[in-house]
Amino acid sequence: MAEEKILRLGVLVSGRGSNLQAIIDSVESGGLRAKIAVAVSNKAGAPALERCRKHGVESVFLDPKAYPDKGRYDRALIDLLNAKSADLVCLAGYMRVLGKEFIQAFRGRVVNIHPSLLPAFPGLDAQRQALEHGVRISGCTVHFVEEEVDGGPIILQSAVPVYPADDVETLSQRILEQEHRVYPEAIRLIAEDRLTLSGRKVIIRND
Ligand code: GAR
Repeated sequence: MAEEKILRLGVLVSGRGSNLQAIIDSVESGGLRAKIAVAVSNKAGAPALERCRKHGVESVFLDPKAYPDKGRYDRALIDLLNAKSADLVCLAGYMRVLGKEFIQAFRGRVVNIHPSLLPAFPGLDAQRQALEHGVRISGCTVHFVEEEVDGGPIILQSAVPVYPADDVETLSQRILEQEHRVYPEAIRLIAEDRLTLSGRKVIIRND
């Protein structure tokens, strides 16, 4: 019998890497049948890289300063991910906007986690934006990445309450717990080939 194909992930990070850790944990526990082919950081000292070392995950620091412009950097990223045969690119706290060429090269195969209920509060400091707006419910969103920042089709969301006493830290922490639950879950749906697109709606097939 032919061996079942395992989804190969390329995870892009910039910092702490707690979402990367959630993905590593799901893979290690067998809950997510996938392999992290490579994790790539655009920051030299990112704690995410240390997490990779601890778990035997191949990781690369790709230095933006080594490339003359953003286009050339993105191309190096595309080449690296292709060299590692990445099927799906997961942005996990990756704080650079990907260029058109990258999105085209991996169309439909890039996902992101964002700490708000999109389309509310795209961009930077989503939790601060939510607090300043005075919303009573916020949360996180896993979505496909398209050219418009934080604008692609939504795969999964999870809501949390916002309390009067919240500050950015307490709200971020409450949202983060949900991020760690829904991100591996969304990747699992892709690994099980259970998602289809209808316009900008993501249909989840329930087996
Ligand atoms: C997470 O809260 C993630 O949703 C957010 O950065 C944090 C990264 O944490 N991403 C964005 O704001 C992207 N626009 P982590 O490095 O511990 O996973």
